[in-house]
Parts: sequence; C-alpha cells; structure tokens
Amino acid sequence: MISTDFLVIGSGIAGLTFSVKMAEKFPDKTIVIVTKASEDESNTKYAQGGVAIVLDEEKDSFKKHIEDTLKAGDGLCNKGVVDTVIKEGPQRFKELMLWGANFDVDGNGDFDLGKEGGHSEYRIVHHKDITGAEIERALLQKAHQLSNITIMPYHFAIDLITNHHVKDSSSSELSCYGAYILDQKEGRIFTIKSNSTLLASGGIGRVYGHTTNPVIATGDGIAMAYRAKAKISDMEFVQFHPTALYELHGESSFLISEAVRGFGAYLRNKDGYRFMPDYDERAELASRDIVSQSIDNELKKSGDTHVFLDCTHLDIDAFKSHFPNIYNKCMENHIDIQRDWIPVVPASHYLCGGIEVDPSGRTTVANLFACGECTRTGLHGANRLASNSLLEALVYAHNIYKYLSENLPKTTDIHIPQWKDEGTTIAEEHVLIQHNLRELQALMRDYVGIVRNNRRLKKAIKRLDLIYNEVEEFYKETKITTSLCELRNMINVSHLIINQSLARKENKGGYFNIDNLDIIL
Ligand code: FAD
Ligand code: SIN
Repeated sequence: MISTDFLVIGSGIAGLTFSVKMAEKFPDKTIVIVTKASEDESNTKYAQGGVAIVLDEEKDSFKKHIEDTLKAGDGLCNKGVVDTVIKEGPQRFKELMLWGANFDVDGNGDFDLGKEGGHSEYRIVHHKDITGAEIERALLQKAHQLSNITIMPYHFAIDLITNHHVKDSSSSELSCYGAYILDQKEGRIFTIKSNSTLLASGGIGRVYGHTTNPVIATGDGIAMAYRAKAKISDMEFVQFHPTALYELHGESSFLISEAVRGFGAYLRNKDGYRFMPDYDERAELASRDIVSQSIDNELKKSGDTHVFLDCTHLDIDAFKSHFPNIYNKCMENHIDIQRDWIPVVPASHYLCGGIEVDPSGRTTVANLFACGECTRTGLHGANRLASNSLLEALVYAHNIYKYLSENLPKTTDIHIPQWKDEGTTIAEEHVLIQHNLRELQALMRDYVGIVRNNRRLKKAIKRLDLIYNEVEEFYKETKITTSLCELRNMINVSHLIINQSLARKENKGGYFNIDNLDIIL
C-alpha cells in the first residue's frame, strides 16, 4: 500500500495543473499521479485549436466571450460559473506561459488569435495546430522539476475506496479514502490511500467507435464516481465535432480543427453546394451542435457517408504555417488541400456533462474532487463553446488548489482492506471483450447518435442490459485487466447517457430527440 497526501488520477491538463500548483505551494506534501498509459497520453495532447481567452479588452471583451458561451450552452449554463471562468482565464493562461508553454505570435509580437465556431471575435491562443501537445509538454516538464510529485505511468485506477469498502469507518458522511490501482505491467493490484483524491480522468469518446479521442478516453473516472455514488449529470450532452477526417478504414478519426473554418474553409456537399448558410446566418462558424446536426441532415437527405471541407481558395502558405499537422495528415492521405476537398464527417468529441462539482471542484463525496473533461461544472450547459475546455481545466485546477490550500485534509488512520481477487482465476478472453466492445460502440453509434428518438433509446437500454449482464458475470470470475475494466466503465457511461437522454424532454444545444418536437409544436 502507498499512502499520499494527494492522489491524482490522470495526467492531462487538469491533473498536471493541479499537481504543479499543490506541489509548489506545499513542498512537504506528497502528490502521486497515476495514469493508465504513457505519462503524456491524454485528450489534452491532441488539442488543436487552442485556448479561448480575452487578452485585450479593447479589441475583445469578457462580456462578448460570456455571451458567446451562454449562447452556445443554449440556456443551460450556470451564469456565475461562466462569468468566473472567463474572467479568471487570462490569469491562469499567464501562469501556463510562465511554466514554459509557448503560443504563436504575429509579426508585431502580439498573440496570433484564431477563431472557431460560435465565437464573435478572434480570441483563440494557439501553438500552430498542436496546442495541446505543447501544453502537455510544458506541464510535464514542470511536474518533473518538483520532487514531491511522483508520476506512475501504466497504472490504472480500478475503483475509488469509499465507506463501502472500509467497514470500520466511523463517518456517516460518504467519503473517499483513495483508490485501488492496477499496475498494468506487473498485473498486480494495490491500494493508494490518500487524504484527498482528484479525478482528472478525461472524457468518454471511445464509447462511440467513431471519435476524435485517443484510446484512453473510456470514461473511467465518471464510472468510478458513479459507482461511488457521486452525482453525475448532463450526460445526454455528448458533443459531436462536425469535421473529423472521413477515413474508410479505422475508427479513431483525425480532427480537422474548427480553426480551419475560422480561417475561411467552406463546407460543401458532393455536388459542391455550400449548405451551411441555409441553416444558420453564421454559416460554417455556427456553434458545433448546429453544424453537426446540419451535416447529419445533409447526409440523411443524400444517403452519402460524408461531406467536404473546401480549402482550395485559401492562401496555401499561410495555411501550411498555421496548420502544419493537418496539412501533413491530409497529404499522407493523398489529399492535396490546394486541389482536393477534405472528406469530413461528425465524430464524438467531448462530453459536456459528467461528475457534478461545485465551484471548488468538490463532488458530492467528501474528499473526492474532480477537474477537467470528466466534470460537469455548469460552464458548458447543453453545448461547449470551442476551446473553452482547456480554459475550464486551468481555472478549476486553480480553484481546487485554492480550496485545498485553505482546507488541508486531515490524515486518516482508517484501515483499508486489500483488493479481493480470490476466485478470479480465469484468464482474460480478449476476443469476448473485443466482441462486446464492438457491439457497445455500434449500439451507441446507431441508437444514441446526433439525432435520437425514444424508441431507439429504449431499444438501446434493452440491448445494453444484455451486454452489461454478460460483462458483469465475466468481471466476477475473470482476472482483472485494463481492457475489461474499461469495457465495464464504458457500459456504465452508456447507461448514464441513455437514461439521462430519456429523461430530457426538451431539445437543447447538442441534444436533439425527434420525439421532443411534438411537445414544441
Ligand atoms: P485528459 O487530457 O483526457 O487526461 C485524462 C488523463 O486521465 C489521461 O492521462 C488518461 O490516461 C488518464 N486516465 C483516464 N482513466 C484513467 C484510469 N482509470 N486510471 C489512470 N489514469 C486514467 N479543447 C479545447 O479547449 N481546445 C482545443 O483546441 C481542443 N481540441 C481538441 C482536439 C481533440 C482531437 C480532442 C480529442 C479534444 C480537444 N479538446 C480541445 C478538448 C480538450 O483537449 C479536453 O477536453 C481536455 O484536454 C481534457 O483534459 P483533462 O485533463 O480533463 O483530460
Ligand atoms: C478544434 O480545434 O476544432 C477543437 C477545439 C475544441 O474542441 O475546443
């Protein structure tokens, strides 16, 4: 067993920012970060567009960024949270720069600001089209300089430890005492006991086979928090990014940043018709929910598999300089953007809901905090405004740090039992896990996609129950592995998405159910 002051689950922007702040302020406290893949693997690493920030109040204003966020969130944002996050953003961004993250500047030395869907101004700071990789690099470099941070890559958090596990707990309040961890290389399960635990475990994209997210995005933190009885909400608001590269083979989809549309690219159907002005006066720069639903409609009308992004009219040298990664990826796929349109299709990208937290990042379980994409803070409402996610993680990591600095958790001497895996001797049957995973992803894609209806959602629940029962049985008698735990977590997350979709009776932002139209009419 390991004991630590702070256990952090995840090494993306949320987990690393919190850890760096805590470690700098309290050199005598220990911070252990467990992360299930290599230390840099995360959604953060793949972020392209950048961070939405108001840096010059003469050219832009907090008011406008707040209005854009509220408009995108379609009436379901928490106004107080929106106000705080947007106004605190610049300060948090400056800290990130002080830690060594670099952002592009123009010839005058001013930040080169990009624009994305739903933004009324150019306000996205970026590092080429690999902003996330630059942030992740700088944060890891900073974390490695702090001797009281221990990063444990290839360590998978299986479950949170709560009163349920600790029989002699005197507390009547539901509390978290750490987590059970699988050392993925040794196949050994051990306990990390902590005074305070932070879930910074990221998103759920893999629940849908077709996603912009890397393979780590399996909703583990949300599923663990759910099993620990924390409140989870707004799960129906899965955000589909309009422009993932359409590839015939392969599931993971390379993202063509919304900043490319901010740079002037047009969406066309196969006949060359530019359809977005028919749907919204902001055309290609309408918010993401509107563009994805419009593409979905175009595809349903035509029976096509994808639409196109036309960059042929853009300045190619400027494009290459802004988007070198996207340019190269297109070239690898034999798409010369000077001549060819890029085939694109919506793909699951981001979860606006998640573990409910208060402004200090506290969940409904004592000593359990959450930050970043796994949370529901109230910032995004029914649809996240582009490039507000990295911003949210920076601001909330700071809020949690501030709260814990003023309310240092007490050391607990509670006895935590070891993980029990007696009787679980059957070796993993990889083929069964893969089969169930494919079935789950097909179910979510076909029945719980961009446009939903109650009949499909109810069918989805029935089918999901079958998969759930089979996997639970398997879980009880099989030696624990990462892929089995991830599958189980994705099933929990899918249940939450479907049930919370059925509970929503009004279409808002990224949630569109054709059966709700009757109520409006
Ligand atoms: P992540 O960065 O995903 O980190 C989660 C961490 O938790 C990972 O280290 C993971 O390995 C670990 N983990 C998960 N489960 C476990 C477990 N069971 N045990 C141990 N470790 C675990 N947002 C913007 O604001 N601007 C953008 O330009 C932008 N572009 C994007 C482009 C792409 C392609 C994608 C996929 C997302 C983009 N986003 C963008 C969204 C944004 O990148 C993410 O929402 C944000 O980075 C999430 O940060 P995080 O720290 O919460 O989670
Ligand atoms: C993008 O670059 O299009 C992604 C931005 C985001 O998800 O906020």
